[in-house]
Amino acid sequence: KAPLAAHRDMYLNAGGEVIPGLSINGPLAAGIPGQPAALAHIAQHYGRLPLADTLAPAIELARNGFLVDAYYQRMVRFRLPQLQRFPAAAQQFLQHNEVPVVGHRIVQPDLAFTLEAIAQKGAAGFYQGEVAEKLIAGVRQAGGIWTQKDLDQYQVVEREPLVGHYQGHRIVSVPPPSSGGVVLLQMLNMLQALDIEQHSPVQQTHLLVEVMRRAYQDRAHYLGDSDFVEVPVPRLLDQGYAQQRAADISPQRASVSPPMAVSTEKGSDTTHFSILDTSGNRVAATLSINYPFGSCFVVPGTGILLNDEMDDFSTKPGTPNAYGLVGNEANAIAPGKRMLSSMTPSFIEHDDWLAILGTPGGSRIISMVLLGALETMQGKEVDAWVARPRFHHQYLPDVIQFEPDALSTDIQQALANKGHTLKALSDTYGNMQAIRWDKKNQRVSAAADPRGLGTAQVE
Ligand code: DON
Repeated sequence: KAPLAAHRDMYLNAGGEVIPGLSINGPLAAGIPGQPAALAHIAQHYGRLPLADTLAPAIELARNGFLVDAYYQRMVRFRLPQLQRFPAAAQQFLQHNEVPVVGHRIVQPDLAFTLEAIAQKGAAGFYQGEVAEKLIAGVRQAGGIWTQKDLDQYQVVEREPLVGHYQGHRIVSVPPPSSGGVVLLQMLNMLQALDIEQHSPVQQTHLLVEVMRRAYQDRAHYLGDSDFVEVPVPRLLDQGYAQQRAADISPQRASVSPPMAVSTEKGSDTTHFSILDTSGNRVAATLSINYPFGSCFVVPGTGILLNDEMDDFSTKPGTPNAYGLVGNEANAIAPGKRMLSSMTPSFIEHDDWLAILGTPGGSRIISMVLLGALETMQGKEVDAWVARPRFHHQYLPDVIQFEPDALSTDIQQALANKGHTLKALSDTYGNMQAIRWDKKNQRVSAAADPRGLGTAQVE
């Protein structure tokens, strides 16, 4: 949540221009964390095990450490100048103030202390007492604006998931303040109206892109925290609206997104878990501190690396954030408001089977879940959902970005001929975690994205 002292123009200079980096780096970029409250809430209301048990492996890892690998090095390199700015972050994540060598052990004793406080006292271990005092003092000393009142007032809100339908499947996904569910269901509604399965591979790609463009445009226009602004969810998810929105898609030509200055900066770090137990209880959970290493600010003495979720707000209408996303009034900053997310933890239900899926990946999360969901509903195996080559369009910038092997040269040519602008990425993206439960044969299969470090386990 935005701190109570936040205001809509807090990242603008006197001339009304966005101050680069202020919503991404350091304590001013940090929203009030919800994760400790959420973990305590879930353990209390839905869990089989107490927090003391479920947090034990994390405490152990913090205390005994983990070894640096090439991926860790890559992420540190991306954020190095910022990590060097904040002594507690440098101490925790660097080696002699530089990128650690492979095999170096990262130990986090302060974090172990903080996690233990949560394990013993629940949410109070974080939002009150010694940890809270350190959080407030550390943030304020470094120029942040948090107060104890922010921590006292943080409340978990349980919300009804969104439910949509696509060709006989039931899709259960996340409601605002994430945009994920709305955008995913709106795209599926348009694909249904266009009868996407009927078309050639080139045409399918063209239509998928046009559908992404339109749904991400509505995201930019309408979506924000529904506790603060009126988000027209029923209208956006109406089948008639999808038909109307899809009606101006030309089979021959790319539409044009209204032009606007864009950022090419991008980054990644977020986590997704998909879980199913033997009683059929299921979890799709995406957790984010936004950028790799969040704000790069560690609160001294707590081991807590603060997020830079404030950048998920629209710092100025029409100005792109770190993921190139634009937004307007609906997602402007206000005290205590939640920023607009793209996280899309989802279930897809069919009479005979159930799918659980989600991924990190900033603005590209929603289009990744769409592509994965389409594989799912075409009856493919779970490995295929997570491995599927990816492409993405988010309204602005008005380009199709695609992974190295996602579009054949023929398809690229055909899309360019229709007027699309294409941008080949040098790297892959995403880290999808998925489970398929075949209820008929009582078979469970799971897969972790081959691009990432996750693992899938069936026990
Ligand atoms: O909630 C969001 O949409 C972003 N904070 C997610 C950031 C993200 O996925 C970065 N990781 N790859």
